[in-house]
Amino acid sequence: MQKLKWMLFGSGLTLVILGLFLWFGKEQTPPISHSPQTHQPAENPGSIYATAQPQRPAPAGTGEFAQVERVIRERCTVCHSNRPTSPLFSEAPAAVLLDTPDQIRQMAPRIKQQAVDSSAMPLGNVTQMTQAERDLIGHWVSRLHSAR
Ligand code: HEC
Repeated sequence: MQKLKWMLFGSGLTLVILGLFLWFGKEQTPPISHSPQTHQPAENPGSIYATAQPQRPAPAGTGEFAQVERVIRERCTVCHSNRPTSPLFSEAPAAVLLDTPDQIRQMAPRIKQQAVDSSAMPLGNVTQMTQAERDLIGHWVSRLHSAR
């Protein structure tokens, strides 16, 4: 008997709490119209991520040219860009632009000359290009040439 009383009391309490929740839920109708907005951006990056993920590994990181591009961006475009970030230059030195894949491909022989066959570039190696990066670019250029 005692147990039953407690159970009744318990379920009564649950109902009251549920009621309160529902009531507060209604009370917060204006903020709720807000919450779809805060929810959607949270869901959208998720779905974007989901579609971007399968494409990511292959083209982005692994291809040799992707690596070359990364090295150039890291070591060269501080100066050789439409908008150099180096305080030393307000425009690309020697009019050598290395912003886009096409520019990099077109410049391949001169890049090799300056950064692989010699270490004239990066100027004073201010961007601390490594030998491995020079080798990578050398390999890429040699393959470019044998493909043509
Ligand atoms: C600190 C700025 C700076 C960085 C970083 C830099 N360069 Fe240069 N680059 C110069 C300057 C200045 C010249 C012009 C020098 C000259 O004509 O003697 C130049 C000239 C060149 C030229 C033309 C040279 C010629 O006569 O054909 C090429 C090609 C070149 N750079 C490639 C690169 C590559 C590739 C990188 C990255 C690996 C690089 N540079 C990084 C400043 C920079």
